[in-house]
Amino acid sequence: MRKDYEFYVCLENEKVQGFFIASFSLLEGHLLNISVAPNMKRQGIGNELLKKVESIANKFGIKEIFLEVRESNKEAISFYKTNEFLEIGLRKNYYKLYDGREDALIFSKKLRNDSFSLKQIFYVLSNIFRFRIR
Ligand SMILES: CC(C)(COP(=O)(O)OP(=O)(O)OC[C@H]1O[C@@H](n2cnc3c(N)ncnc32)[C@H](O)[C@@H]1OP(=O)(O)O)[C@@H](O)C(=O)NCCC(=O)NCCS
Repeated sequence: MRKDYEFYVCLENEKVQGFFIASFSLLEGHLLNISVAPNMKRQGIGNELLKKVESIANKFGIKEIFLEVRESNKEAISFYKTNEFLEIGLRKNYYKLYDGREDALIFSKKLRNDSFSLKQIFYVLSNIFRFRIR
């Protein structure tokens, strides 16, 4: 919930039914956590939250979203695959277990947006300017 993270909740009658936390840098997004209340699963809330992640990412001109998931988390893996995330790698011993460690699978999704945010344009221009005055 640091202030440079995007933190959204899905509310129904003032009750939190799901949330996500994501961070966005210049070109990449990182989905840090996404979760739906156990009694509300398989009703499309996760899909809606993920759509929101992508729409914010598109607004920021983000080109690719990354995430890690426990290799034992079959429901989340199926969820990400359904939403067109591709498995691209593995982080050994990334998660703590009660009695050891567990690997993380890395998933990513490339976004098809041709737009650039003001932040990105400013970054490129400021680098060109810095280069010229050297
Ligand atoms: C992963 C999670 C966020 C999905 O949320 P959800 O609201 O249940 O997902 P949706 O209802 O939008 O499901 C969308 C699709 O994902 C797939 N999916 C979701 N849960 C699944 C499951 N348990 N088994 C197989 N496929 C599943 C299905 O294709 C589903 O479409 P369908 O219901 O039409 O078949 C939810 O299961 C959750 O909170 N898990 C615990 C927290 C967690 O592990 N988060 C991920 C951390 S990396």
